[in-house]
Amino acid sequence: MKFGDVLYEKKDRVALLTLDDKAKLNALSAGIRQGLKEGFEEVEKNPDVKVAVITGAGKTFCAGADISGFSFEPVDIVNFLGDIFDALTIGEKVSKPVIAAVNGLALGGGLELAISCDIIIASEKAKFGVPEINLGLLPGFAIVRLHELIGRSKSKEMMMTGDPIPAEEALRLNLVSKIVPHENLLDEAMTMARKIAEKPAIAIRLAKSSVNRHIHGEEIVYASDSMPFLFATEDAKEGITAFLNKRKPEFKDR
Ligand code: COA
Repeated sequence: MKFGDVLYEKKDRVALLTLDDKAKLNALSAGIRQGLKEGFEEVEKNPDVKVAVITGAGKTFCAGADISGFSFEPVDIVNFLGDIFDALTIGEKVSKPVIAAVNGLALGGGLELAISCDIIIASEKAKFGVPEINLGLLPGFAIVRLHELIGRSKSKEMMMTGDPIPAEEALRLNLVSKIVPHENLLDEAMTMARKIAEKPAIAIRLAKSSVNRHIHGEEIVYASDSMPFLFATEDAKEGITAFLNKRKPEFKDR
């Protein structure tokens, strides 16, 4: 079955969702956002689904927000931000456990989608980064969540340099649960998902909600509300235009 650009397969009591837009490196296009929304609605409402696994088709997990879909019109920016925040925080919102099986690059919204999940298993080929600074932007969800996971210093280093980190460093920073050989990634994720699916769902749900209990959503509203300001800067226009024209940006601090 397919929801938007997300493949949805039910395997026993586990739903496997695969981001599937290889031409754009599984960036969070309208089709991927729609697929995540509808796919996780199905996960939530189907009592026979106890755990979800999310991964990416091809070599990339997800290259972040779809830069080709950016607009500089205020109303478009506000609508776009609402939609994209819904997509990349989906792992926190669904009540059932979600495992991210990160098969390659997880950049920007891709890293954010992964950290919204409950458990991250990384292929040895995975890399994690928040390169938005190179576009004159910031990672809207990671600015409020990443430092909780890896500490302030590393989180700021990643946001300010835009440089990605390899899977081994992500493991050392506790960003991921474990690293597995690339070819075993899905098997390992599905094995863990099946193990969790055999446990009592009410206790599993409480394990998730109690660890996440401090997540009230105010910080998401703050993050989402602060982003339109950045989109209005000249540097964001320059960064985005430069990426789309495959050239280096020239920032003017305006
Ligand atoms: N949104 C839209 N399209 C994207 C994209 C994104 N976030 N990331 C990659 N693509 C597209 C590229 O434009 C390119 O399209 P084209 O073939 O029509 O030219 C295609 O995916 C392949 O990307 P390319 O840059 O040619 O591959 P690469 O292997 O040289 O580099 C990346 C891969 C991921 C390092 C590079 O694409 C990149 O930096 N992407 C942007 C990541 C980012 O800033 N994410 C945060 C967005 S807010």
